[in-house]
Amino acid sequence: MTAMERFMLSNKIAVITGGAGFLGRKHAEAIIEAGGTAVLLDISEQAVDEAVRELSNQYSKEAVEGFKADITDRSCMEEIKQKLLDKHGHIDILINNAANNPKVEGNAKNMKNIQFENFPMEMWEDDLKVGLTGAVICTQVFGSVMAQVGRGVILNISSDLGIIAPDQRIYRKEGLAEEEQTVKPVTYSVIKHGLIGLTKYTATYWAKQGVRANALCPAGVFNGQDEVFLEKLTNLVPMGRMADKDEYKSTIVYMVSDASSYMTGSIVIVDGGRTCW
Ligand SMILES: NC(=O)c1ccc[n+]([C@@H]2O[C@H](COP(=O)([O-])OP(=O)(O)OC[C@H]3O[C@@H](n4cnc5c(N)ncnc54)[C@H](O)[C@@H]3O)[C@@H](O)[C@H]2O)c1
Repeated sequence: MTAMERFMLSNKIAVITGGAGFLGRKHAEAIIEAGGTAVLLDISEQAVDEAVRELSNQYSKEAVEGFKADITDRSCMEEIKQKLLDKHGHIDILINNAANNPKVEGNAKNMKNIQFENFPMEMWEDDLKVGLTGAVICTQVFGSVMAQVGRGVILNISSDLGIIAPDQRIYRKEGLAEEEQTVKPVTYSVIKHGLIGLTKYTATYWAKQGVRANALCPAGVFNGQDEVFLEKLTNLVPMGRMADKDEYKSTIVYMVSDASSYMTGSIVIVDGGRTCW
């Protein structure tokens, strides 16, 4: 196989959690462009239907499948696993990408109730349930299929905030009293660091069974954030800009394909240099 052929994902079935979200769809494009089939799992039925329709039009009907699914529901994951095995006979890739993503930057509505001192335990449990418990359940269900056949790849989507603490100064808003200020929620840090722990655990646990597990740490992706926030954030990034939404696709292909066949337990940071500063 040539070096370039190792990037190909022909006949690979890739499950993407939160696959109908902003970056999930981009992960799907990456899988499809490399020749694989993207299976989108998302709790939002409308978003799944729309994503499947758009990706089918953009590529082909065979390249994408979608399920309205709650990744925190183990029996639902087992059902989908069985459906995929009945149809394809194998599951090759899992991308743990789903998250509750409360937006706290720019013009987001006031989120003062998520300041650490009073962070609601309901939100703590709900965020961890999706971001960590859901990832563990999917890893158990889909990863076990891979371990049984001796081959597979798991990619956990962490964040630059899985490496460093959020710089809360960039979420502050001029003119608001201290108790009104918005912060990046504690759950974001805990989940993104936790996914790195899950990555190292599963990478070593299943190393001999041929299942690789790695984590990708993307930094902020441009999605129409307002100018004030953009300036504060990009001042923290040596390259001076946010990522473009298409800029992770080639890293995704590398990390889930045989191009990275000797990589496991690795934490790949793609952040315009932010974590160097
Ligand atoms: N967008 C960024 O700038 C950025 C930067 C670094 C890391 N990330 C990480 O990338 C991942 C994707 O981010 P995004 O910006 O696309 O977010 P997003 O909110 O657009 O997508 C998340 C998706 O997860 C789905 N989801 C939530 N709970 C679920 C559940 N219980 N079961 C199934 N699906 C569920 C949502 O419906 C949504 O479609 C997240 O893990 C995020 O933390 C994003």
